[in-house]
Amino acid sequence: MSDRATVRESDPIVVIAASHYHRELERPGTESLPMIQQTETQQSAPVFDKGLANTIVAESEISFIDGAKGILEYVGIGIDELARNSTFEEVVFLLWNRRLPKAAELAAFIKSIQAEYDLPEQMWELIRQCPKDAGPMHALRTLVSALAMFDAEADDPSPAANQRKSMRLLAKTPALIAGFDRHRKGTTFVKPDKTMTIAGSFLTMLNGQKPTRTVERALDVCLILHADHGLNASTFAARVTISTLSDMYSAITSAIGTLKGPLHGGANEEVMHMLNEIGSMENIEPYIKNKLARKERVMGFGHRVYKAYDPRATYLKTFTKQVAADTGNRKLYEMSRKIEEIMAKEVAAKGIYPNVDFYSATTYFSLGLDLDLFTPMFAMSRIAGWAAHCIEQLADNKLIRPHVKYTGPHNAAYVPVEKR
Ligand code: CMC
Repeated sequence: MSDRATVRESDPIVVIAASHYHRELERPGTESLPMIQQTETQQSAPVFDKGLANTIVAESEISFIDGAKGILEYVGIGIDELARNSTFEEVVFLLWNRRLPKAAELAAFIKSIQAEYDLPEQMWELIRQCPKDAGPMHALRTLVSALAMFDAEADDPSPAANQRKSMRLLAKTPALIAGFDRHRKGTTFVKPDKTMTIAGSFLTMLNGQKPTRTVERALDVCLILHADHGLNASTFAARVTISTLSDMYSAITSAIGTLKGPLHGGANEEVMHMLNEIGSMENIEPYIKNKLARKERVMGFGHRVYKAYDPRATYLKTFTKQVAADTGNRKLYEMSRKIEEIMAKEVAAKGIYPNVDFYSATTYFSLGLDLDLFTPMFAMSRIAGWAAHCIEQLADNKLIRPHVKYTGPHNAAYVPVEKR
């Protein structure tokens, strides 16, 4: 692992790599924890690190984050450069192969993805069986899990089979999301268009008509920005699952369940609810100040790793301005800017800035997506990163199994049920 891939010098870090502990810190309250046998000559006690905020559990060459400087790179290339110049498909190739493709390789890669766009007939039927009032993230988690039953290679652990499954998962997820949305709205399915990009085919399936180039590109950029992000909670969940030598479908299902939470991928939908609740420019200041006074979180702000501006938000802020103007949603953008201004006065000193979810909410809304499809959009993109991390984990696997600090009683008596 390169020096750049380590965390800031000032951070107290416990590195628990696949096969050895690099460094370990003494912390209060760890004396009573069990010792772990490391090697014949080295023993160390686990340290208590709530939320694993200061623990490195794997080495990775996929994405690099410098939280203090606000840098995000995929395989060394800045996110801003990728968002400006690349496409989602090319970024997926980059994440999966750790290099940019030559033109012919990219064309072949896109063709292989497109060949996997459609779903087995039973999957379309399964979508029809979903309750129409189910949340799309519940539907997505269930349907991705179900895909395993239609894949003869589901339990083949070879790297080649895992790559093919990654491709299928990436290619079929848009049809699951769009198919469920059409089902709940009582409209007929639109099959994927195997001549289009992932973003283009998805929007065609969702809306029943081809998107404009601007709208397709806007979604493509959002997919690029969300594709990977170090060991975020859902990626960790995927790596934990695959580290048990379970399968790719189980790992991605775990990840989707984890992404759903409002502290993670669910925040983009919450941002939109907040904007709707605020309703007007005049209401912004009292609303935000009251929220902070009540010690409530303002969704779309703050990050476990970034204590500077999230570089994805930096890009989206400018990008969204144009998308919102082009689609008649300027007011929403102006409201977001005002919220940011107030938050800057109130909490920027604490290192709380907008994160990727803040401006992506306005972008998705401007693209005409329903609010509860915002988090599925995040999943559709992040599958690229989850799959890359699963394959990387398996290449040098060690079961991920941390400790818990037990705080319950000892030597308690068993009281028979009739005497309790
Ligand atoms: N609004 C107001 N105060 C906040 C916020 C926020 N959004 N985020 C953190 N704080 C405050 C928090 O109250 C605490 O203050 P104090 O020290 O006075 O008690 C301080 O900042 C540190 O908070 P923390 O919870 O210890 O920090 P964390 O690193 O555990 O939290 C976070 C990271 C993302 C869970 C948190 O910032 C948050 O809840 N944000 C809102 C939800 C959100 O937007 N999530 C999307 C994250 S980006 C997309 C992704 O990668 O998944």
